[in-house]
Amino acid sequence: MNVLDHRFRRVEPWVGFAEVQRQLQRGGAFLVAVDPQGRPNAMTIGWALLGTAWYQPLLLVLVRPSRYTHACLLHSGQFTVNVPLAGMRKELEFCGEKSGRDVDKFKELGLRWEMGREISVPVLIDCDLIYECQVVSRVDLRPESILSPEVLGRYYPHGNLHTLFFGEIKAAWRARQKA
Ligand SMILES: Cc1cc2nc3c(=O)[nH]c(=O)nc-3n(C[C@H](O)[C@H](O)[C@H](O)COP(=O)(O)O)c2cc1C
Repeated sequence: MNVLDHRFRRVEPWVGFAEVQRQLQRGGAFLVAVDPQGRPNAMTIGWALLGTAWYQPLLLVLVRPSRYTHACLLHSGQFTVNVPLAGMRKELEFCGEKSGRDVDKFKELGLRWEMGREISVPVLIDCDLIYECQVVSRVDLRPESILSPEVLGRYYPHGNLHTLFFGEIKAAWRARQKA
């Protein structure tokens, strides 16, 4: 069965804006990308920006180079962001703690997925809001581009500065029961 068509409806990228921001601060969301062997990997994110640039709807994610997800994104140039509005706490904790280098998180957690409609990256069908994104720009943060000494000191005492991946939103989905 095609779950995206039956249990979700396609929506404008901005429909869940407030809920996404709230959930990012309350427990996070899943960033899914595919590794060079074609294996999907999910990591928990707490930071993401939804907005417009180049007249495109964008979702920007910040990923440190040490994450396995970083290598996946460099490889495939596509990702999905999957937002549970309730529950999935155990899964969020696990994906925010374990690395895809060491464990197959999809397998370990039994994450239920289906391939995205517009891109070749899985979406998590137990989430409430889903974004399919194509990377259109990539920017490595550098110490000199951070003008706040507080931010630099608090978030980057050991370097490992985030890369900003700007994803053009190719499709956004919302679970029907949440409509
Ligand atoms: C609530 C929460 C939010 C997180 N947000 C981010 C984030 O926005 N960017 C990031 O690079 N790491 C973030 N992390 C850390 C990664 O999820 C974690 O290092 C993960 O194990 C990386 O998995 P990977 O190596 O399979 O990519 C967060 C962790 C938690 C628990």
